[in-house]
Amino acid sequence: MSRRRSLIDQAVGNGRLTFRRMEQADLEQVIAIDQKSFTLPWPVSSFQYELAHNDTSRCWVAEVEIEGKRRIAAMAVAWLILDEVHIATIAVEPEYRRMKIGQKLLIAILKDAQASGARHAFLEVRETNLAARKMYLKLGFEEAGKRPHYYSDTQEDAILMNLDTIDAALLEWLD
Ligand SMILES: CC(C)(COP(=O)(O)OP(=O)(O)OC[C@H]1O[C@@H](n2cnc3c(N)ncnc32)[C@H](O)[C@@H]1OP(=O)(O)O)[C@@H](O)C(=O)NCCC(=O)NCCS
Repeated sequence: MSRRRSLIDQAVGNGRLTFRRMEQADLEQVIAIDQKSFTLPWPVSSFQYELAHNDTSRCWVAEVEIEGKRRIAAMAVAWLILDEVHIATIAVEPEYRRMKIGQKLLIAILKDAQASGARHAFLEVRETNLAARKMYLKLGFEEAGKRPHYYSDTQEDAILMNLDTIDAALLEWLD
């Protein structure tokens, strides 16, 4: 896969933050972040499928570069289906949390999706995941319903969250 460089480059601490498409070479770090972040991490084969075989999938990373060393700080997978973008997963490496990397990665995904014709965004989040719910609400998502007992490990409900209109005005506001 060709290297598709950043939509946004920004400073993080004393390093540089880049948002770009995920590559095969990123998988080891992406999987490590997934495993640290979720009680039901994806199988490795799911990331490989999303990266190499799913045409609707856009896989993202946030990469931090400090003194010439690069490290993946966050990852996300989004599915673009007609005019909708579904955020399938998003996670930030624990030591990089609360640095606005999650929200910036999500904004980068929404911008990219809007440029490809998406007008709505959609996701599921665990009811108890207050940090993520707060991030989505902050970016304009609204809680639109529940899927009862959605998560097989705890039988927890999923909250459905929608972003009704992704347009130039929203992206300007997010900037
Ligand atoms: C949810 C997650 C992606 C947020 O990433 P992050 O980079 O730490 O979040 P940001 O620094 O961009 O925060 C953006 C906003 O989210 C909210 N937020 C994030 N973490 C929070 C926390 N621990 N407690 C309360 N609010 C939080 C805040 O509103 C924050 O805005 P503020 O800094 O102005 O208060 C990260 O906590 C994570 O990877 N969690 C584990 C995986 C996960 O739950 N993914 C979501 C699945 S649906």
